[in-house]
Amino acid sequence: MNAPVFQMSNVSIDIGGPRSIMQRIASGINLELHRGRTLALVGESGCGKSVTALSAMNLLSAPLRVSEGSIVLRTEDGPQDIAGLDPSGRQMRAIRGRRIAMIFQDPMTALDPVYTVGDQISEGLRRHLGLSRREAWARAVDLLRLVGIPAPEERAGHYPFQLSGGMRQRVMIAIAIACAPSVLIADEPTTALDVTVQAQILDLLRDLGERLGMATLLITHDLGVVAENADDVIVMYRGHVVEKAGVGALFDNPAHPYTRGLMASLPPADGRRVELTPIPGQVPPITEEIQGCPFAGRCPHVMPRCGERMPALQNLSPEHSVACWLYPAVAEAVA
Ligand SMILES: Nc1ncnc2c1ncn2[C@@H]1O[C@H](COP(=O)(O)OP(=O)(O)OP(=O)(O)O)[C@@H](O)[C@H]1O
Ligand code: SF4
Ligand SMILES: [Mg+2]
Repeated sequence: MNAPVFQMSNVSIDIGGPRSIMQRIASGINLELHRGRTLALVGESGCGKSVTALSAMNLLSAPLRVSEGSIVLRTEDGPQDIAGLDPSGRQMRAIRGRRIAMIFQDPMTALDPVYTVGDQISEGLRRHLGLSRREAWARAVDLLRLVGIPAPEERAGHYPFQLSGGMRQRVMIAIAIACAPSVLIADEPTTALDVTVQAQILDLLRDLGERLGMATLLITHDLGVVAENADDVIVMYRGHVVEKAGVGALFDNPAHPYTRGLMASLPPADGRRVELTPIPGQVPPITEEIQGCPFAGRCPHVMPRCGERMPALQNLSPEHSVACWLYPAVAEAVA
C-alpha cells in the first residue's frame, strides 16, 4: 500500500488548563488513512471518537488539546505536521476545507440558515480556489447534481429550511467535497436521518470516496454501518485503540473482548430475531482514574494483571492488532 495521505502517530488528547487538573481523554492514537479507502472508527458513546476527529482537523478548543504525538497530512507539497499549527492561523485555514474536510452529525446546526445552499457551497470554492461568483455558483450546481439532489439549478437557490434532512446532509457532503479534499472526516453523518436515507447517504459517501480518491474517516457507534461501508476498522474504548483490522478480519475473527461484546449486541444482518446481549456496565467516566486495561470493569475474561498495566497494541497478523493480555503476542512484547 502507498504511504498514507494522513497519519496520526501516538496522539494524546488532554483536558485541563494551567489551574485545573489535567485529565487524559485519549492516548496512543495511531491511525492511517489511504486514498480511496474508508477507515471506520467505532466505539460506544464517550470513547473519544469525536475528540479524535476534531484533533484531526486541528479543531479542538480549550480546555481540550493535543498534548503528544504528530498528525501528518501528505499533499503534493509534501508532509506537514498539522498538530503544530495554530488552529486559527492562516496555514490551518488554508488546509481546512481544502485538504481535509469534515461532515458533522447534524446538518441543521452546521448549515447557516440565512444563506442559500448555493452560496454556502460557493464560499469555499471562492476562498480556496479563487473562483468568481458565477464560476463558483455553476460548480455548486454541479456538486448538488453529483450528490444526487434533483433539480439542482433550482435547489441551489433554496435555504436549508426548505430542504429535507437527507437533502441537507447531501448539501453538507457537497460543501465538504467541493474543493476535492484528500481527507474526508464524517462524524456520525447519518444518525439524524431515518434508516433508508442513512443507507443512501452512506452509499453516496463510499462511492464518492472511491471515485474521487479521497481517504475517508467514518465515525460511528454502529458495527452494522462498519460492515457495510469500511475497508479498515479501529475499535476505540475509553480513549484507547483496542483493536485494529481490515473489515473482513475483524468480523471473521474479533479478538478484543470489547469488540466481541459489541458484536454480540448487534442484530443479525439477515433480520433473524435473536436475543441480543448488551455489554454490562458503562464506559468509565474520564474523571475516574484507571490503572491497567480500561475495559477490566466490564470484561468477562479479566485477570489480575489486567488491573496492573495497560496492554499495548500488538500484531496478531500483519493486518490485525489487539491490545489485550489474553494474547501471547501482547504478553510477550513486555516479557
Ligand atoms: N469540551 C469538552 N470538555 C470536557 N470533556 C469533554 C469535552 N469534549 C469531550 N469530552 C469528554 O471526552 C470524552 C470523549 O468524548 P467524545 O465526544 O470524543 O466521545 P464520542 O466517542 O464521540 O461519543 P459519542 O458517541 O457520544 O459522540 C467523553 O468522556 C467526553 O465527556
Ligand atoms: S486486558 Fe484483561 S480486562 Fe482487558 S480486555 Fe483483555 S482480558 Fe479483558
Ligand atoms: Mg461523538
